[in-house]
Amino acid sequence: MNHGWPDEPTLRAALTLAVRAPSVHNTQPWRFRISDHHVDLHLDPTRANPLAGTEQRDAVLSCGAALHHLRIALAAAGWSAVVHRLPNPADPNHLASIELVPHRPTMLEHALSGAILRRQTDRRSFSSAPIPPGYLGLVKERATTLGANVRQAADATRERLVEALRTAPDADAGYRLELADWSGRPATPDGVSAHSIPLYSHPGGVPGIVPVPRQAAPDFAELLVLGTSTDDRLAQLCAGEALSAVLLTATNVGLATCALTEPLEIPELRQRIRVGVLDDLAYPQAVIRIGWASAAAAALPFAPRRALADVLDPFEPAAC
Ligand SMILES: Cc1cc2nc3c(=O)[nH]c(=O)nc-3n(C[C@H](O)[C@H](O)[C@H](O)COP(=O)(O)O)c2cc1C
Repeated sequence: MNHGWPDEPTLRAALTLAVRAPSVHNTQPWRFRISDHHVDLHLDPTRANPLAGTEQRDAVLSCGAALHHLRIALAAAGWSAVVHRLPNPADPNHLASIELVPHRPTMLEHALSGAILRRQTDRRSFSSAPIPPGYLGLVKERATTLGANVRQAADATRERLVEALRTAPDADAGYRLELADWSGRPATPDGVSAHSIPLYSHPGGVPGIVPVPRQAAPDFAELLVLGTSTDDRLAQLCAGEALSAVLLTATNVGLATCALTEPLEIPELRQRIRVGVLDDLAYPQAVIRIGWASAAAAALPFAPRRALADVLDPFEPAAC
């Protein structure tokens, strides 16, 4: 038995959980490669939304979330990941190279790994039941250990953020086109279901999107802003890992979540959130709605994923 490297079924099982990670518009912009003694994660530039003008920020965040999902799944399977981020300066799309060492899984790793299959983006209104402060404290702590900060928007800060969120859909034509491109694709294992998209206030809506009415129920979601002290690719990758940690931690205690980056794609709104919510001290990378789903809420269908074979490059044995 090889004690130095997981067998193929173990790696495939972990990668199957990794690809359950959230991604912008469900683009799943990642590729994995298993080599002799490491697993590599690459950004797939063909899925990185050229329209948004965000220099692939959302795609890198999405890959960071997949990286964290993979680490959690491997840890629960008895393998601790040693991650080399951006290991190849000549290839910025080579986001991580992962070595593995045997490891005794903790209860927390088992719990977070189990949460991967329950987590889903919930865009509906959340109930007024308060979130225990300890839960929010835990979420913030986990993000901090991964190099990001989480700020809870309250009072005037919250009002400023809500205003920015409200403005975003009408302010960003590129985002709307991109969303139209990635929504309502009934026969494909990617993209966002048209029925998940709230109705745009834009007259006539967006071609290709079937609008559904905005919900009448008031939304009591807490709003968190995840920020980083720099805004380079490494910071964005770490922010994606922290985003995953926040979402899985919340899911593990039964909270519903929804990551949002739409307002951050507009430079003016991003700057407004940086100054108005993060005191001009950090770069906003994602907004996270978090709260309790209403007791009457129906189960949501899970968003589709591409088959593992479609995101896994062939094994390449090391050259002798
Ligand atoms: C970086 C990032 C940005 C996202 N931005 C938005 C957003 O602005 N609005 C939204 O409704 N969902 C957003 N999402 C959620 C994705 O649409 C969702 O993860 C994807 O459709 C897959 O669905 P699932 O999370 O239920 O598995 C974002 C997710 C990520 C990782």
